[in-house]
Amino acid sequence: MAGLPMDQREGWIWFDGQLVPWKDAKIHVLTHGLHYASSVFEGERAYGGEIFKSRQHSERLIQSGKTLDFTIPYSVDEIEAAKRLVLEKNGLVDAYVRPVAWRGSEELSVPGRNNKVHLAIASWVWPSYFSVEEKLKGIRLEWSRWKRPSPETIPSSAKAAGLYMICTLSKDAAMANGYADALMLDYRGLVAEATGANVFFVKGDEIHTPTPDCFLNGITRQTLIQLARENGYKVVERHIKPEELADFEECFLTGTAAEVTPVSEIGEFKFKPAKACTTLINAYTEAVTPKKVAAE
Ligand SMILES: Cc1ncc(COP(=O)(O)O)c(C=O)c1O
Repeated sequence: MAGLPMDQREGWIWFDGQLVPWKDAKIHVLTHGLHYASSVFEGERAYGGEIFKSRQHSERLIQSGKTLDFTIPYSVDEIEAAKRLVLEKNGLVDAYVRPVAWRGSEELSVPGRNNKVHLAIASWVWPSYFSVEEKLKGIRLEWSRWKRPSPETIPSSAKAAGLYMICTLSKDAAMANGYADALMLDYRGLVAEATGANVFFVKGDEIHTPTPDCFLNGITRQTLIQLARENGYKVVERHIKPEELADFEECFLTGTAAEVTPVSEIGEFKFKPAKACTTLINAYTEAVTPKKVAAE
């Protein structure tokens, strides 16, 4: 995301219960979250002024904190009110929302329990840029050299900063090689997910997606499974081997940021975005559009 650096923008950020000017939302360099990845976050999108599945995101944030053995000192209702306030104060309607919680700077060594847990919520304009026709060209992915680790190695169900180290490495390598993103296998060599989105494959009226047993079970993923079933597709969640990709006709990614993004290529495998991608892009657009806006 090029443009004005994130720390030099204008606006208001909710920081530990207060709205502070954007440029003053700072933390100390000796912060536990920065050194030891004791940090969890959310990525959410507001459409027409309403955050899609907002409560589910707030619940996941609190749960991610618990998984990292910390309690975010705000309830779901308080986080919901804070997010609404951030959108309102910044005059945002179609926007990305980024809550982040982290352990502070009371102590700096591996143990974290004596460090206060902080919460900040920022939001900025982020419209859905591409038309359906543009999206249907599909994006090209390369295979990542990094594998999603076993849930015995890292708490993989949390949306936690530490889990993103290999995503950044994979995405940067893919982009340097001229690809839009990378697809990661898991520690068993099974298809897992992209660096910030889940993956689906289509064959006829069946849609297959990897079982989320070592990566994030995305809120968009869960929404898409429901929408696909409502649109007459049979959805199968299962372990998928990379060589099986040759059998599929269409492929798409899902995520709050990615929404429904058709894929034209993963390494040696080619896909042609068609009816399933179109149907589900349209179904997702309808699902995220607040009913009051849709009626206007
Ligand atoms: C690694 C990863 N997987 C999957 C997803 C999709 O999750 P969601 O649909 O909840 O945004 C994301 C996006 O947040 C992600 O970062």
